[in-house]
Amino acid sequence: MTDIICAAEAIAQLRQEIERHNHLYYVEANPELSDYDFDKLLEQLLALERQFPELVTPDSPSQRVGGTITREFPSVQHREPMLSLSNTYSTREVEEFYNRVRKLLALEGVMEQEMVAELKFDGVAISLLYRDGLLVRGATRGDGRQGDDITANLRTIPSIPLRLNALAEHDGREVEVRGEVFMRKEDFKRLNESRPEEDRFANPRNATAGTLKLQDSAEVARRSMCFVAYYLKGIEDESIAHHHRLELLSGFGFFTGDHYRLCDTLPEINDYIARWSEERWQLPYETDGVVLKLNDVRFWEKLGATAKSPRWAIAYKYPAQQARTVLHNVLFQVGRLGTITPVAELEPVLLAGSTVSRSTLHNFDEINRLGLMLRDRVIIEKSGEVIPKVLRTIPEERPADAEPILPPAHCPSCGTLLVRPDNEVSYFCPNEEACPAQIKGRVLHFASRNAMDIQTLGDALVEQLVAKGLIKDPADLYFLQEKELANLERMGSRSAQNILRALEKSREKSYERLLYALGIRHVGRATARELSQASPSIDALRQEGEEQLASVPDIGPVVARSIINYFAKPSWPDLLEKLRSAGLQLSASEPKEQVNRNFEGLTVLFTGGLDCYDRQKAAELVLERGGRVVSSVSKKTGMVVAGHEPGSKLDKALKLGVRVVSEDEFEAML
Ligand code: IVH
Repeated sequence: MTDIICAAEAIAQLRQEIERHNHLYYVEANPELSDYDFDKLLEQLLALERQFPELVTPDSPSQRVGGTITREFPSVQHREPMLSLSNTYSTREVEEFYNRVRKLLALEGVMEQEMVAELKFDGVAISLLYRDGLLVRGATRGDGRQGDDITANLRTIPSIPLRLNALAEHDGREVEVRGEVFMRKEDFKRLNESRPEEDRFANPRNATAGTLKLQDSAEVARRSMCFVAYYLKGIEDESIAHHHRLELLSGFGFFTGDHYRLCDTLPEINDYIARWSEERWQLPYETDGVVLKLNDVRFWEKLGATAKSPRWAIAYKYPAQQARTVLHNVLFQVGRLGTITPVAELEPVLLAGSTVSRSTLHNFDEINRLGLMLRDRVIIEKSGEVIPKVLRTIPEERPADAEPILPPAHCPSCGTLLVRPDNEVSYFCPNEEACPAQIKGRVLHFASRNAMDIQTLGDALVEQLVAKGLIKDPADLYFLQEKELANLERMGSRSAQNILRALEKSREKSYERLLYALGIRHVGRATARELSQASPSIDALRQEGEEQLASVPDIGPVVARSIINYFAKPSWPDLLEKLRSAGLQLSASEPKEQVNRNFEGLTVLFTGGLDCYDRQKAAELVLERGGRVVSSVSKKTGMVVAGHEPGSKLDKALKLGVRVVSEDEFEAML
């Protein structure tokens, strides 16, 4: 008994401490702990909760690590429609909006008109419901009336409070908070670096939208997303102005944006817009405009809304950043998968805070679509502030010596005749095995930071190794001799030894990393992680059929096909043998405790309360035994474990004829 009391105290303290550090890091951007020390605190909490599962509560920060697999997100009805805003690119329209609101206020005898100017966050709008201060539901906007219930994914976002601070005041209340989920620039960059080139996100907004749809909430947790709150509903007192509501939200523990401002006059609003048009490039996240809201909430209802947007607010959007320049040349790059990518060489110009001299043209369809010719005057644009793109040519300024851009007939690296498969927009070099550019690309990918992390292996060195025929695939790296390395240009025996040491160290890198390092088309870090859990050895993985692969969370038919194709290549058996004899990790390390795998392939759903386990522990036990845990019932659900007071999911399971077991039966199966 005393044990559990001590544990409860320690758990309460750890939770408070962890949420405080979460808040410092994600809301105040002022961390006190290193990531390592933070992880240690979380580990302590997880260990205690494992030991005392009855002490786990839904607002514990342990619930943020994710692990639930959601096959289909149920649709939910919004309490009130989730409107968007009317957008404008013109400050004149902002002025018209301001005057419209002023007229209405004047009719009501109000002469002061305060507006709150906020940054417009470029992310995905969501709604959060809190009951008695506890987060009970999180949903996407959907069509405005109905959205998807993505609570499991939203729980993993550290700046979304699982419990509102100052709880006592909210007893019995239902509070709705709306805001935007977004990804900071550096987290976006890190995420994209972990993805295969062919699947990178174009901007943080797309990355956020893609992440919120993931079935595996543990992967959502790893992507470090953020939330900004900008709307609060459920506080009955209408007199609480919007500005004050933002302060309340902040008191609840939300991030509300650091830069909103109360403006009394139109010039103040214009100043705000002008100031952030430049300063926004220095922010750690992206903003594509400014939102103006009438501060006095009492008039919101009077002003009303159109079908799409309220009349008490407007969004001013910054025009995309554009510049004029000249297209000097088009280079053709050969990727590690043989794809030929045209790259524009441009007269350097300053655009959105940096100098641009290159931009990708993606493929030949894009060149044709733009009607682009060499030496054309072009407009380039940075939208979403990531990679600049050529937006259009200026045909009236086309010089007399402009020349057509022709697709290359042969690979610029190996001279092989290029092919363009049906239904593909790109040309490919089919010389997969021997094209130096492809080999080099594969080796550099293999050695990259997120893969085998062999930092001493730079571009110039790999180029020489391939050109001299010393390596034909990444596995050959492990058979290089010190003398061979030392004889290369700008190398000596010291650097050769360093490289061999780095290679030696990389042999210990996990099976999961190795799967990513192989460079299978569409297999990024996250997919490699899922695969390594579903098939814990390379031998098991290559036996998998397309259907089995496609049943792994977040792996669709395209990825499944690509994996099958990879293992069917003629060069694969030879590569595998070399990887094996190099002593690389071709299987996941043994689980600490040997458990039987009698849940292999079984999808399990829990409904109702369990007596002996908390949900998380029960889910872990299923996962360890090869099963999967899902949160919605379908015909494909293998088994439903019904605890006490099961919900509507039990009825649905019975209707669909899904097998239902009690907690005792579940325990017996374990
Ligand atoms: S207020 C009913 N405030 O931009 C009012 N929206 O283009 C709801 N957005 O639909 C929206 N930052 O998804 C509001 N500070 C902010 C915002 C913001 C970004 C998004 C939101 C909105 C869209 C309009």
